[in-house]
Formats: sequence, structure tokens, C-alpha cells
Amino acid sequence: KHQDDLAGRLLAWYDAHHRELPWRIGPAELAAGAMPDPYHVWLSEIMLQQTTVEAVKPYFRKFLEKWPTVADLAAADADDVMKAWAGLGYYSRARNLKKCADFVASELEGAFPGSEDGLRELPGVGAYTAAAIAAIAFGRRASVMDGNVERVMSRLFEIRTPLPSAKPEIRALLDGLVPEDRPGDFAQAMMDLGATVCTPKRPRCMLCPLREDCRAIVAGDPELLPVKGKK
Ligand code: ADE
Repeated sequence: KHQDDLAGRLLAWYDAHHRELPWRIGPAELAAGAMPDPYHVWLSEIMLQQTTVEAVKPYFRKFLEKWPTVADLAAADADDVMKAWAGLGYYSRARNLKKCADFVASELEGAFPGSEDGLRELPGVGAYTAAAIAAIAFGRRASVMDGNVERVMSRLFEIRTPLPSAKPEIRALLDGLVPEDRPGDFAQAMMDLGATVCTPKRPRCMLCPLREDCRAIVAGDPELLPVKGKK
């Protein structure tokens, strides 16, 4: 099968099997081509930087209830924001969250930048988060690479170079896979595939939409990839 179809196979799987998460738009809106609110995407991606999906869910809901827009978060008392963040850890994220909301509300008229470069300028937004927001909220063709995506890619292309040395190679291959159409869904499909099918231990290869593309399956050892180098 051709690599050209790989993104299409992954997106078809995502349409049927994606995780329903509070920061994602529903299936009907997704089918209609709607885009999620950049404020929601930004808030979720900051929370997800060092915290699991399950732990983030209630905090994400609470923040949106208290502060439905970035202007509301900018107008909030900084101590209230820190209190609402309590339990999520890595508190510099909460300080930057507030700084970023203040900046977007006062300098950008409440509109998040739509490009990776513009997003990188924001407090608390690094390369990964900028790519995720650009792809998911703005439909930009950005390569979103987290641990899940690195694992999926290592197996798909049978990359035996240890991580983190393999990252540039993985990024170059990922750049070639991201589709023009639905890059944000593609990014989240890679994450969901890594979280639910292409898992670190005992991957469920029989359920994988990419099993016929996967070089590690041919080699017989998907579970042994990626190779981790010493830190
Ligand atoms: N981890 C980081 N961003 C995510 C997202 N948008 N969906 C699921 N897991 C994630």
C-alpha cells in the first residue's frame, strides 16, 4: 500500500474510534468540518503538557466553567487561578497560563495567533504546544510530536536509532505524512492510536488501521520499539 493513503486510513480510523474528550468537538461538528475554539485547545494543551488525560478532564471543565473565554481568564484574580490549578502540579504552567491570557486579551484583542511562530511567542507555549494548537485549532500543517507519536512512528518505519537521537529522523518522516486536509485530526489520531492501540506494552496490532503499513510488524517485534538511549 502507498504512503499517500496512510493519513487517510488513520483518519478513517479516527472518525470511528477517537476518544471523546472535553476539549474536542463532537462527531457531528467534526463531520461538518468545524474547528475547535483556540482558547479550549490552548488551555487543554497546557494542562496536558505534564499531566495525563484522565487527570486533566475535571480541571479543564472547571476552568471553562469559571472562565468561559480568554478575556474572563485575563480578568480573573491570579490567586484564584492558582487555587483552581492546585493539584495539577508544575505550577509555573499556571503562572504562564495567566500571563498568556493577559497578553492575548490585552495585546491581541482576545485572538490567539494562528501560526506556529506566533504561538511560540506566548508565555508557556513551546515547540510542541505551538504545533498542537496550530494544527488542532487552526488547521495548519504542523508536525505534532509527543511520546505517543514517537512510538507509533518508530514502529511504522522500524526506526532502531535510540531515542532521543532518532527525533530528527522521526520528525522528517512525520513532516511527509501530515495531510493538507485535517492536520489537527491527524495529530490527535496519532495520539489516540498511541494511547489505545500502539501501546508501549502488548500493542493491539490486530486493531491497527496501519498494520499493513507497519515495518515493525514485518520485522516481528513492534513491542521492542522505540529503542531508548541512555539519558
Ligand atoms: N495529549 C496532548 N494533547 C492531546 C490531545 N489533543 N488529545 C489527546 N491527548 C493529548
